[in-house]
Amino acid sequence: MKVSIIGGGGLVGSCAGFALQAGKIVRHIHLVDLNQEACEGQALDLLHGASLLCDQKITSGDMKSVSDSDVVVITAGLRRKPDESRLDLIGRNVTLFRGILSELKSGGLRGDAIVFVVSNPVDVLTYLAIKELGLPATQVIGLGTVLDTTRLRSLLAQRLDVPPTQVDVTIYGEHGDSMVPIWSAAQIAGMPLEKYPGVNAQLIADIEKQTRGSGAEVIKKKGGAGFAVGVSIADVVQTIALDQRRILPVSSLQSGAYGLRDVAISVPTVVGRRGVLGVIEVDLWPKEKMALQKSGTVLRETIAKVL
Ligand code: 2OP
Repeated sequence: MKVSIIGGGGLVGSCAGFALQAGKIVRHIHLVDLNQEACEGQALDLLHGASLLCDQKITSGDMKSVSDSDVVVITAGLRRKPDESRLDLIGRNVTLFRGILSELKSGGLRGDAIVFVVSNPVDVLTYLAIKELGLPATQVIGLGTVLDTTRLRSLLAQRLDVPPTQVDVTIYGEHGDSMVPIWSAAQIAGMPLEKYPGVNAQLIADIEKQTRGSGAEVIKKKGGAGFAVGVSIADVVQTIALDQRRILPVSSLQSGAYGLRDVAISVPTVVGRRGVLGVIEVDLWPKEKMALQKSGTVLRETIAKVL
């Protein structure tokens, strides 16, 4: 499988490239960036480690070299300032993103290509890509709350001193201020979270607050996320590559689940080689369902303003 990363010269794109190289699943990692020198440098740096990792093709190129890709990851875009919301980026990133979509269309895309949006505000830009690329909506997905989910799981694991891979709690909704942690289904090693030793309402509130602020915290400390967003991207891309049909909190166009329509947002989504294979509408606490619908409204209002 050939995966092209538009924005591969930058922090998010290059970390995604390294995560895919370390994941050893995809066959060809191809980086594209306006900053050609940086892009070639990232590809070269990845290539230098190839003999210790995996037999993959690692290249860089221009937008025309994306046309034969199985998956096109779009990470290009401006980053927000720590005190900005992701939606505040909308004015600056929509123009840049529309330019990328237009080049993708004119350069040609495979009919079965999956376009995977990471740039922020990811839910709005995923919706824009669905409307403007001319691919089936199921072939356009956004990273959504995959990153928020791994942050929540990892922070909770650290606080409780349990293995992060055994913490199972998921965030749905907007990748942004209105995200919705689904505490009603939270488990540790298959046991209800609320019954786990040391867990109380204050601890849950603290971890939720820390998760919500994680994006801004990382931007403040190091300029922006890289490693965690890179492995989040690779997790989704590898699910596509292997046609695993895992249920992931990716962002996609909704047509009724949880009362959400005509908006790209994260809900439990079955992901495989053909992109979105379906949505699983599992029953939630009433307050969670209401929060999810509020999140959808926030996104719809933003979409109405800019698109
Ligand atoms: C984050 O939360 C980049 O939106 C991404 O760090």
